[in-house]
Amino acid sequence: MYSLVRKALFSLDAEKAHDLTIQTLKVISKSPLQPILKKLFACPTGTPKTVMGLQFNNPIGLAAGADKNGDAIDGFAAMGFGFIEVGTVTPLAQEGNPKPRQFRLIEAQGIINRNGFNNYGIDYLIENVKRAKYEGILGINIGKNSFTSVENSKADYLFCLNKAYNYADYITINISSPNSPGLRQLQYGDALDDLLQGIKLRQNILAEQYNKYVPIAVKIAPDLTEAELIQIADTLQRHQMDAIIATNTTISREYVSGLKYAEQQGGLSGKPLQYKSTQIIARLQQELKGNIPIIGSGGIDSVQTAQRKISAGAQLLQLYSGLIYHGPNLIKQLVQHIQ
Ligand SMILES: Cc1cc2nc3c(=O)[nH]c(=O)nc-3n(C[C@H](O)[C@H](O)[C@H](O)COP(=O)(O)O)c2cc1C
Repeated sequence: MYSLVRKALFSLDAEKAHDLTIQTLKVISKSPLQPILKKLFACPTGTPKTVMGLQFNNPIGLAAGADKNGDAIDGFAAMGFGFIEVGTVTPLAQEGNPKPRQFRLIEAQGIINRNGFNNYGIDYLIENVKRAKYEGILGINIGKNSFTSVENSKADYLFCLNKAYNYADYITINISSPNSPGLRQLQYGDALDDLLQGIKLRQNILAEQYNKYVPIAVKIAPDLTEAELIQIADTLQRHQMDAIIATNTTISREYVSGLKYAEQQGGLSGKPLQYKSTQIIARLQQELKGNIPIIGSGGIDSVQTAQRKISAGAQLLQLYSGLIYHGPNLIKQLVQHIQ
């Protein structure tokens, strides 16, 4: 059945298809059809797993970017995900980059996007989170506004952290989107050290204030040298971060050169990212030795490719592009077979 839906969606511009999907899920999840949706997807519950001190019903999650504003949390929940990450959200609403900004590389089963954190702002997202009926694990992925300089970005992260803390099961610090000017600089040296020091300090204050500890994950890029990766692993351990998400999209075009849209600027996701992100997980695992759990993301499109990330060291998995190319049945297969 998804092949028909996919044909219809792929006849539309990539972002229009995405918006239509979100609107449809939003409408259905608010209507009496919601339980029917759950039955339709008929996803098994899967194997529970405790990571970051949280109990996940299964290790398969929705990656950030699919539901930036938390509009369709209950719709995605009905598909059987063990956790859902909404965002990236910024302090204030922003439009993102000019359209078109999302492209399907169909032959490669990839997607290039340069959305640039288009979202309605943290307050809008929090209202959606409050309204959602979903009771599973919810992550809120936060970033900085595009008009905020890299030097001042810590204030944006702390602003969002304050607002999201009481409504999230975990919070992701996104410093790896290639579409927000200068953002990836926060992954290196003193900039990372300073940011994580501020975040940890605030997490401790908020933990006391709300009398609950909300874990923090940091999401990194796949485009890192060995030395950079080692430094990131070291800094995250020093600041006692609770998880690392590897990886975001890539700016490399290694596996897609010559294909239509390959030269479009932005981050590439899906199958062409699969190998690279798994290599990063494996290298991180060597470095972290289990001290910080790894959440694997990048090109998961089958039980086999998901299993490779688990074997490389990931404890949880997230997907986005695979859902676009293979539909919700992929979640069902992964939930059934991945532990
Ligand atoms: C259209 C699109 C928008 C995305 N937006 C975000 C975002 O806002 N924040 C983020 O952390 N990752 C974002 N991502 C990255 C995904 O969360 C994921 O890490 C990446 O796409 C690799 O997984 P995949 O190959 O399964 O898509 C986006 C990906 C796509 C395709």
